[in-house]
Amino acid sequence: MPKPKKLFIETLGCAMNVRDSEHMIAELNRKESYALTEDLSQADLILINTCSVREKPVAKLFSEIGVFNKKKKPTAKIGVCGCTASHLGKEIIKRAPSVDFVLGARNVSKIAEIVHIKHAVEVDTDYDESSYAFGVYRSNPFKAMVNISIGCDKGCTFCIVPATRGEEISIPSDLIVQEITKAVATGAKEVMLLGQNVNNYGRRFGTHEEQIDFTGLLQKVSKIEGLARIRFTSPHPLHMDDAFLEEFASNPKICKQIHVPLQSGSTKLLKAMKRGYTKENFLNRCAKIRALCPEATISTDIIVGFPGESDADFEETMEVLEQVRFDQLFSFKYSPRPMTEAALYETQVDAEIASVRLSCLQTRHTEILDEIMGGQLDKVHEVYFDELKPYGKIAGRSDDGKLVFVDGSEELLGKIVPVRVVKTSRGALDGTLI
Ligand code: 5AD
Ligand code: SF4
Repeated sequence: MPKPKKLFIETLGCAMNVRDSEHMIAELNRKESYALTEDLSQADLILINTCSVREKPVAKLFSEIGVFNKKKKPTAKIGVCGCTASHLGKEIIKRAPSVDFVLGARNVSKIAEIVHIKHAVEVDTDYDESSYAFGVYRSNPFKAMVNISIGCDKGCTFCIVPATRGEEISIPSDLIVQEITKAVATGAKEVMLLGQNVNNYGRRFGTHEEQIDFTGLLQKVSKIEGLARIRFTSPHPLHMDDAFLEEFASNPKICKQIHVPLQSGSTKLLKAMKRGYTKENFLNRCAKIRALCPEATISTDIIVGFPGESDADFEETMEVLEQVRFDQLFSFKYSPRPMTEAALYETQVDAEIASVRLSCLQTRHTEILDEIMGGQLDKVHEVYFDELKPYGKIAGRSDDGKLVFVDGSEELLGKIVPVRVVKTSRGALDGTLI
């Protein structure tokens, strides 16, 4: 047996990228043996799995390649993968000739084919790998992420993703069930279903024909024996029909945590973003979630400083924050992206103003979060433990998605156990086993 090669992999961006990295590791290992290393200077292959949703990580890429060039073994190869690879393609090799190959976010299954081809560039955003059965690799056997679709059909005017990941294609439901069944057999009790727009599932398949929507998929997945919990990310508020929300609320296997990306509270801006809903529609969907499932936690994404955002528009976003009181907030300053409509709008907002709005939003949300988390003391949660932590701690998630730490060791891994909260903080809870 030859000695395994060493692979250093850096993953930026979203959960989809984390899963793509796992797929790349699995695919490489089908042909040759690779062992992961965290020491760049030892690596034979260096992969950078990039994100291009905002400008900063893209700018960082080239300086990072420079640093890697100095630290790496002279024979080590560098591959740039992910959304920036799709977006910049061969430009990457032009600007950084030390890069050996470029692999787009929609070409993950080709990695083993091109890893040894000098200056290969595979960035076809029409490539359909929706029916491809990837090799199996999970960085944590207790955490299973499973893709349910590739690409995105929504033309949100701020978002580069449709240009980097191509049109939306759903993965056949039998393939999804097969993947989850394998993950359950190796220890996972919980699955995270992944897609850019999960509740648009079933709109279009590749070569395969099937009549099923996201609600149908949830029902099918929940029949998998041994699977205790289902999470999903990200849904789109526009596709949150009543049938879906009723399934979410009534299916005991579906974790009561839902991401409802707002982006802006101003109907005028939502229109300019081409989100397809109004402030009122959004509030109505959140109210429906609260009515059907009062225990559910709601998280969101908000962009401030989108072109044309006035003080009054921003106030509307603050109003939605007050009304919904999101349990988690991911907030961003608008970043103009190439290949997007909004980058061409002439009403770009001053960066200073956007920064002030961002900090105002985050400050108020922090206060809300302190109140929410403060109210958790003495509460009991069913926690799925999936990660060992330093100092004799083990971490897991409550059904509603809160991070919980207790004193404990391996024997709790993969178990769902009741825990009483003894200490709260903004980001996590400390508990004791009951
Ligand atoms: N600028 C800032 N934030 C963005 N997002 C997507 N595109 C941009 C952009 N151009 C945010 C959205 C999305 C999240 C994943 O990233 O809020 O929901
Ligand atoms: Fe981007 Fe909108 Fe698609 Fe989300 S739904 S990936 S924000 S285009």
